[in-house]
Amino acid sequence: MTLIQLKEHIYSELSILYPSTEIQSLLTIILKEYLGLQRIDIVTRPKLVIPSEKIRTITDVIHRLKTHEPIQYIIGNTEFFGYPFDVNQHVLIPRPETEELVDWVIRSAREIEGKGITNPLSILDIGTGSGCISISLKKNLVSANVSAIDISKKAIDTAQENAKRNKVAVEFITQDILATTSLPKTYDIIISNPPYVRELEKELMHENVLNFEPQKALFVEDKDPLVFYRKIAQLSKLHLNHNGLLFFEINEFLGNEMIQLLDSYGFSNIQLKKDMFNKNRMISAKKLYHG
Ligand SMILES: C[S@@+](CC[C@H](N)C(=O)[O-])C[C@H]1O[C@@H](n2cnc3c(N)ncnc32)[C@H](O)[C@@H]1O
Repeated sequence: MTLIQLKEHIYSELSILYPSTEIQSLLTIILKEYLGLQRIDIVTRPKLVIPSEKIRTITDVIHRLKTHEPIQYIIGNTEFFGYPFDVNQHVLIPRPETEELVDWVIRSAREIEGKGITNPLSILDIGTGSGCISISLKKNLVSANVSAIDISKKAIDTAQENAKRNKVAVEFITQDILATTSLPKTYDIIISNPPYVRELEKELMHENVLNFEPQKALFVEDKDPLVFYRKIAQLSKLHLNHNGLLFFEINEFLGNEMIQLLDSYGFSNIQLKKDMFNKNRMISAKKLYHG
């Protein structure tokens, strides 16, 4: 099979299931990952013959894509905040909205560092998954001490590998945050993207998310969707330093409830922020007293 024939084959196999823009980006990833080629090669080298063992591998990839398995799990990696991350069925695939939260934290942390009072900063990421938040923070805030917690040992193993891959030191802890009554120390910044999708929102979600991503990373019970936020707010009251900051990624439908929750725990400077899709997606608050 030649390169141009491979391209046509991929389009004809996937066009019932994926829009053409998505097939284009899947094709780009397949060419790069399995053949070391770029899309432009289809134009410049259409008659390039693809070895049969590569065709067999790509046929398997197409088969998996037809079951709606995300391409990131098939190739085993993705990019977040410009850094490479291994991903597998034990960790959520990092989302672009979370990059915006990380960017917000980095800018706030640099402001604190600029004042020269708190150095090095101490940061905790709760529900770290692939480690995308904690590792990206450590890459950008090099003198900060960064720790990260997850309930899943397999997620922590993946995050540890990702820290090695990105050459940063992050302290990883396997721990159930809901069963935690106190944290190991106090922090200047606590950040979390906890599970926040209600069971009732399942029908809005795609098969690739529902069938392949870890349910424990995503869903909370309809009757108590803020369970993680309440617990983390409680712990933060005890374990954030004076003037410490709390950052959350949140359910777009629960912005007002989140403001109320943080207010009820006595946090100040509560700021709700929209993501690039204009959805209420992140919130921050400050602890102005020891409580
Ligand atoms: C929405 S994912 C976020 C993953 C990653 N931080 C990101 O932004 O892509 C939530 C994470 O919380 C973890 N988690 C779920 N329940 C937990 C618990 N009780 N204690 C600690 N971590 C928990 C899951 O394993 C999952 O990795």
